Amino acid sequence: MAFRTLLRPLARSYATSTLGYGREVEGFVGAVGNTPLIRLHKLSEETGCNVLAKAEYMSPGGSVKDRAALYLVKDAEEKGQIRPGGTVVEGTAGNTGIGLAHVCRSKGYKCVIYMPDTQSQEKIDLLRLLGADVRPVPAVAFDNPQNYNHQAARYAKTLDNAIWTNQFDNIANRQAHILTTGPEIWEQTNGKVDAFICATGTGGTLAGVTRFLKEKSDGKVECWLADPPGSVLYNLVENGKAERAGTGSITEGIGQGRVTQNLAQDISLLDGALHAPDAESIRMVYRLLDEEGFYVGASSALNVWAAAELARRKGPGHTIVTILCDGAYRYQARLFSRVWLESKGLLEAIPEKLHRYIVLP
Ligand SMILES: Cc1ncc(COP(=O)(O)O)c(C=O)c1O
Repeated sequence: MAFRTLLRPLARSYATSTLGYGREVEGFVGAVGNTPLIRLHKLSEETGCNVLAKAEYMSPGGSVKDRAALYLVKDAEEKGQIRPGGTVVEGTAGNTGIGLAHVCRSKGYKCVIYMPDTQSQEKIDLLRLLGADVRPVPAVAFDNPQNYNHQAARYAKTLDNAIWTNQFDNIANRQAHILTTGPEIWEQTNGKVDAFICATGTGGTLAGVTRFLKEKSDGKVECWLADPPGSVLYNLVENGKAERAGTGSITEGIGQGRVTQNLAQDISLLDGALHAPDAESIRMVYRLLDEEGFYVGASSALNVWAAAELARRKGPGHTIVTILCDGAYRYQARLFSRVWLESKGLLEAIPEKLHRYIVLP
């Protein structure tokens, strides 16, 4: 009796604090999505808003791209383009490849990844560890037929029972976010969301969440692009001209030189764009670690900086949602290295009191 009384409050707090976590799910693919929506307390306090971040780094493959990977494969299955034992081919240097490698293992497909040979050995090793056949090819521009994306597309055509998932222009990617990320945000905020903002790589996350939230709220939820240096999208959204804003960025997986098919249908729904300098993104990597306890990559930090900036523009009392795309583990050799930060001219961007986190030479 005493034991039961002791357990009751525990059971209650579990039931109310675990959206989606109380249920059993089926395998790896069942665990994709349903991520927590986390209130960032320091930034919320600072801005007088609810600054909320969707913890995509908690997905089983470690990033927001698990959702895209799953829906790209599911879509091909539903269209009868791939059958058991088939092969999934993609051109990717990052999280989509990791997501696809996991999904392929879980569903019994072979996975072939083409990537530029400039990518780190860690990335190649990780994909190989996940069972993928990794093919590094010379890093050449998109208009060159030897570009890794075109090689992936061509190779898939030579195989029987194989698909090229084509994450940039296959809108099954965007569909993942219309069907899962958008509804989760709506449900987790009880429809009390004023704005959503995030950066784009393929555009799947921003376009899909924007489409869902705009339709669900009759256009009331504002949707914004956060864009790193080197991308053309900030200028396109703000001034109608696809011109690069600044040169390259330290962020990975985001920034675009063109409007992908995933973004094309929804770019006109956007309310505005913020340009995020690298100094702000790197400072936020360190602030999130120090103030909130999150160890996330630079695209997540950029998103959070942009969400706080948007909160400041809108004024107190608003709820702003963004995405924590992945963890810092894959970037730590750079983001926490003094030599690397100096080489990028970003050491001064980090407040002196946070230098204790720069633990690598
Ligand atoms: C670390 C990281 N952040 C953000 C994104 C952007 O997501 P999306 O492709 O849905 O625009 C990506 C995409 O690969 C990524 O790898």
